[in-house]
Amino acid sequence: MCGIVGYIGNRDCLGLIIDGLKRLEYRGYDSAGVAILNEDGEINIFKKKGKVKELESQFDFKKLKGHTGIGHTRWATHGEPNDINAHPQSDMTGNISLVHNGIIENFKTLKRKLENEGYTFTSDTDTEVLANLIQYHFKQKNDFELAVRLALTEVEGTYGLAVMNRSEPDKIIIARMGSPLMFGLGKDEIIVSSDAAAIINITKNVIYLEDGEMAVIKFDGFKIKTIKDEEIYREVMKLDYDLEEIEKSGFDHYMLKEICEQPEAIQNTYRGRINFGNGEVKLGGIESVKDDIINARKIIIIACGTAWHAGLLGEYMLEEYCRIPTEVEYASEFRYRNPIIEKGDVVLVISQSGETADTMAALKEAKRLGAVTVGIVNSVGSSIAREVDAGTYIHAGPEIGVASTKAFTCQLMSLILITLMIGKSKGTISEKELKEITEEIKVLPDKMKEIINKRNDYKFIAEEFKDSRNFLYLGRGFNFPVALEGALKLKEISYIHAEGYPAAEMKHGPIALIDENMPVVFIAPKDKTYDKIISNIEEIKARKGKIITIATQDDNEINNYSDYILRVPKTHPILSPILNSIPLQFLSYYIATARGCNVDQPRNLAKSVTVE
Ligand code: G6P
Repeated sequence: MCGIVGYIGNRDCLGLIIDGLKRLEYRGYDSAGVAILNEDGEINIFKKKGKVKELESQFDFKKLKGHTGIGHTRWATHGEPNDINAHPQSDMTGNISLVHNGIIENFKTLKRKLENEGYTFTSDTDTEVLANLIQYHFKQKNDFELAVRLALTEVEGTYGLAVMNRSEPDKIIIARMGSPLMFGLGKDEIIVSSDAAAIINITKNVIYLEDGEMAVIKFDGFKIKTIKDEEIYREVMKLDYDLEEIEKSGFDHYMLKEICEQPEAIQNTYRGRINFGNGEVKLGGIESVKDDIINARKIIIIACGTAWHAGLLGEYMLEEYCRIPTEVEYASEFRYRNPIIEKGDVVLVISQSGETADTMAALKEAKRLGAVTVGIVNSVGSSIAREVDAGTYIHAGPEIGVASTKAFTCQLMSLILITLMIGKSKGTISEKELKEITEEIKVLPDKMKEIINKRNDYKFIAEEFKDSRNFLYLGRGFNFPVALEGALKLKEISYIHAEGYPAAEMKHGPIALIDENMPVVFIAPKDKTYDKIISNIEEIKARKGKIITIATQDDNEINNYSDYILRVPKTHPILSPILNSIPLQFLSYYIATARGCNVDQPRNLAKSVTVE
């Protein structure tokens, strides 16, 4: 949610900040703004409703020179997206300029207090209140760092923020509570950001702030403290990916690029982790808690959105192959319902970004209750990755498109690896089946490529259905979560209403919706659920619904039941959700593009939801 960039160094910073904001736009894109300290010591602020390119087109930026600045791309929480509510926000005097990600929960109380002191406000934002609160303390103490610290001790809620002060122009102060923030150390320059994507083109050497910490960033160095004024030493970390990985590489959209990258991404998830000779799986990051996982009394999987769908499949796999009772929970529900955690329980947390606020809060609650916590995370060094007791990275590479694609299939692969690791150790999976699965994993990337190479076939179906108002996605067993994920992808990027359901459960309600205008997508692999799925298809056909099937390559019988067929190669049932997800990703992508939707930045959504 919201992207923050800040710069202090020897270069003119406006272009660098704008460039960084563009890379962060996937986090929020309803308005954008910059504050630059110019050569006369004044802070110039430019902000605009809409995307960063609208900000650029509005103002004659070229005239603006300066070596210190902050910028923001917003996903609105308090106050509608408009020019006034865009960040940076200033205090009443124009001395303080602030960009902020998060929510100041007690902003109304703070605002009343400041109004009583004669402060006035122009926006609806909680951020403007914080800017004034900093100025209020600065006026008393005449010390910027102290003013920020005093203001933050009064604040309840979450923030990642960067703030400048015209009266102390040689520094940017940043602080973090619940919203990610880091800075990169370049040569004679420091760049601050909520996300490594805005830093990687300048440096790979980064420092992550932790909750409750602030840093004073100056041209010639930095110092980190807690907001209680304790000095902190923090190691420099190395980013583990390159600039090319976060660029579109000739694809029309990040989403399309990321769908097509999946064969390689999946290989990165399992590379070096499976001994294909004996089927043993070794996940270095969770070795320390391997015994806790194998002997778990219960596993609780916590996640949000697409990661929750991966978690649901995790539940199916862990129960089937490891015989460990498993529950999957929405992070936002788990934390508020007094969950039961007992000795021997393991909590698996799944998150692409590693920054989702609800997932992080649920993780902390699980730790507080005494669970062993294990992360399945994509973003290296992210907050969740650092908070868990142990974890495994999915190594999908940066995912920029708001609709998650490669992270989902790589999360599934990580869950499969964990399942195989436990199943082999406990002896709940036969050596024969283990061999079959690992042999199939070896050829999975090629089978994924086969589907990707046929992607033009999906355009025709997308054209047929682009004006539909509703879709139903049905699957059974391992492919029920795939149906949920397929429906979510369509909703997110094409704004067509879609629901995923267990195929048989459809009779208990959704069947009432079926008529000749209703497309129904069936995930119908040739496995033990096949005959039942065929019966469910018959039920829809009898009511004239349009049938689109995701079917196994050599299944001719399905021709009798389908209006449209999307073929996938045969594989082991545990791997079939990975293959079956790809045609559904393409279907939603091509429907959305046929409707002229902005696939990478769908309305109202954000890639990383860092507010509750
Ligand atoms: C947002 C994104 C989804 C994602 C969810 C959880 O809603 O738009 O694509 O699945 O957050 O994010 P996480 O980073 O924790 O996996």
